[in-house]
Amino acid sequence: MEKAWWKEAVVYQVYPRSFLDTNGDGVGDLPGVIEKLDYIKELGADVLWLNPIYKSPNYDNGYDISDYKDIMDEFGTMADFDRLLSEAHKRGIKILMDLVVNHTSSEHAWFVESRKSTDNPYREYYIWKKGKPAGGVPNNWESYFSGPAWSYDKNTDMYYLHLFEEHQPDLNWENEQMRKEVYEMMRWWFDKGIDGFRMDTINMLSKTPGLPDGEPIAGTVYGNRIPHMINGPRIHEYLQEMNREVLSKYDVMTVGETPDITTEDGKLYTGADRHELHMVFQFEHMFVDFVDGEKFSVAPLDLVKLKQIMSRWQVELNGVGWNSLYWDNHDQPRVVSRFGNDREYWEESAKMLGTCLHMMQGTPYIYQGEEIGMTNAVFHSIDEFDDVEAKGAYREYTQNRGMSGEEMIRILNFRSREHARTPMQWDGSENAGFTTGTPWLKVNSNYPKINAKNQVKDESSIFSYYKNLISLRKKHPIIVYGDYTLLLPEDPHLFVYQRSYEGQTLLTLCSFAAEEVEFAFPKAFLDESSRLLISNYGDCPKAEKVTLRPYEARVYLLG
Ligand code: GLC
Ligand code: CA
Repeated sequence: MEKAWWKEAVVYQVYPRSFLDTNGDGVGDLPGVIEKLDYIKELGADVLWLNPIYKSPNYDNGYDISDYKDIMDEFGTMADFDRLLSEAHKRGIKILMDLVVNHTSSEHAWFVESRKSTDNPYREYYIWKKGKPAGGVPNNWESYFSGPAWSYDKNTDMYYLHLFEEHQPDLNWENEQMRKEVYEMMRWWFDKGIDGFRMDTINMLSKTPGLPDGEPIAGTVYGNRIPHMINGPRIHEYLQEMNREVLSKYDVMTVGETPDITTEDGKLYTGADRHELHMVFQFEHMFVDFVDGEKFSVAPLDLVKLKQIMSRWQVELNGVGWNSLYWDNHDQPRVVSRFGNDREYWEESAKMLGTCLHMMQGTPYIYQGEEIGMTNAVFHSIDEFDDVEAKGAYREYTQNRGMSGEEMIRILNFRSREHARTPMQWDGSENAGFTTGTPWLKVNSNYPKINAKNQVKDESSIFSYYKNLISLRKKHPIIVYGDYTLLLPEDPHLFVYQRSYEGQTLLTLCSFAAEEVEFAFPKAFLDESSRLLISNYGDCPKAEKVTLRPYEARVYLLG
């Protein structure tokens, strides 16, 4: 397998709005990110992924961009960005920017022009359609933020498509001139010196031609999003063109956000010989606790299923493409609350989850606060939410799908993106040290206990444990490049796998159980020469049969 810096790297994701506020307006900013570069360096991450920082009216916290070459007012100026880039590079940290080109803001100059008239030169930059002959929206597509994916524009008596909120009109990738402008913009950022892009909802660029209705979904007026909204017929052509025109000219890293893809798709997007992307964020493991594919539902974790999914990605992409490894990001609830135990085994389970992920093949992503075990917050009513997705879903489910408000709040307390977005917990002072003003979103009340200051100097903390996981990766190529084999696929409590590389074998043992579980040690590892690399409990007896403690994790290296 070919070696690459982006395979060996660890990425730390920053959601700037919730990271650190330096001017007291309650919103995190770029100077705040600069202030904390040493913290990221201390952890050992090599790459910093910034969620969108471009000019935006913020209907979706920066995922609605009105100017790709300017900085959001609340975050600072281009001079702040330039300083961030150079300060990061001084510390050996690369900068990965978010690229949001499935849609723009409705305030982007292109859309302002586009909606003016049907013969405007920018008309075809977006997707416009007449309503159905009988009246109403052109098709039955549902926006990801609830409600129809179309909005009516009186001016030209037509509808425009938006797979997300109505202020996020979809770009028309069939338009070559528009694609050229996007490539030019990407080159502009690379020429500035950034080191890569995380590409937002990149598998939605190509839609089924003619935009046909989706298969009707019972109990709603909408159709299935698959296959028409994603992985359309021209997607690989666009990505190969982007690669040819832009990416291939720079030594940069790329990761595409690609919901609803299979491992077969994953190979097409990331295959080394296909010249598209380096890796993608697949979502199968994020859908594992949905009931019948429904996001706004709650089911307990089925570990056997989770193992099947993750192992399939490990095995299928091995030697073909490359995996990204993530539990958390700005769109997901906190993993320690979701797959771990944020009560009596908070610390143990946070460390175990880190171990389970970081010992796999792929590039690990750490989302701000994950490294200190930040948990889901508790929301009491819909008024406490800011997020466009949560509000849209609340409206849709309580008004049109017969769900009670109480039930929906219960579900959002498991599922909402807001759990990821509560401010970073820096210390035990007011507002967790995030701001001296009023935070834009409430701070999780557990900050006096869970905060970075408590953990950075403590060698037994979650932070120190993550630091250790990263430094092991730097020492042992097997963690980056080794082949993967799942052991005990049917075990409902233990996630056990081996890696192998150049004569060495690595054994990762993770218990997802809140009680003790018996484990029969693989014979080879009973040998004295197998070394314990890391564990989340002090003593680690080795015997033919061992009793693993709640959420115990161990990693052994042989050879
Ligand atoms: C992606 C982003 C999400 C955003 C959406 C629309 O899923 O991660 O935060 O709301 O795309 O851009
Ligand atoms: Ca601020």
